[in-house]
Amino acid sequence: MKLIVTESYEQSAYLAARMMLDVVREKPDALLGLATGTTPVPVYRYMVEEVRQEKADFGKVRTINLDEYIGLDGEDPNSYLYFMRKHLLDACRIPTGRVMIPNGMADTQAELDRMNAFADANPIDVQLLSVGVNGHIGFNEPSDVFYDRYHAVKLTQKTRESNSRLFSSIEEVPTEAITMGTGGIMRARKIVFLAAGEEKLDAMKKILEDGEVTPKCQGTILKFHQDCTLFLDKAMAGQIRPAAYVEVRRA
Ligand code: GLP
Repeated sequence: MKLIVTESYEQSAYLAARMMLDVVREKPDALLGLATGTTPVPVYRYMVEEVRQEKADFGKVRTINLDEYIGLDGEDPNSYLYFMRKHLLDACRIPTGRVMIPNGMADTQAELDRMNAFADANPIDVQLLSVGVNGHIGFNEPSDVFYDRYHAVKLTQKTRESNSRLFSSIEEVPTEAITMGTGGIMRARKIVFLAAGEEKLDAMKKILEDGEVTPKCQGTILKFHQDCTLFLDKAMAGQIRPAAYVEVRRA
């Protein structure tokens, strides 16, 4: 794992976007693994800016998302399909034919089969990633095991509470989701990882500091990835003592 210590979250997002765009420059039909949540929003803003200024060409780019809530329609503003359209897909004119996101309204098993068949045949060139307060990646909640492929999960109370800020009440937060497995995330050729906010500090300590790799904090497995770059601002990085094998650089 490589840790880049930045001046601010804004700089982290800018550098993460640059890394994503470099992959597209090298491989115009790259498969981008995408994430939702507030953390990646400024990353998408920078990517969209580059496309608008015609400094990046997304004419062949393909995308696959980590996860989707079960029970939310793509037109629901809290669905991850809606989020992706709003923050990236529409502005970059990426048609649905090149977008893979689980459909939260379809038969769950059929969706898992569809997503897994695609994921098995199409390696992810770069996966954008953030982390939940309990260390989850995608919606891989604390568990006794690491799941490999797309599967259905029951969301923990902690995750529902944390994500309820985007809904009008916690009752509206779905109780289940479809997520790429931690195994699938680990098969991405490259991972661009960001985290921000005091509430993520605990999880980031477990991920970066010397300690066990455990499904109780799914993000800890990123220690085993060969090409994972993490961007943290200096305020957060200053509170963490990365393990000796983490390569630390200032931006
Ligand atoms: C959701 C997503 C995760 C994301 C997390 C953190 O739970 N499934 O992929 O990392 O939110 O979101 P935020 O960036 O808003 O803190």
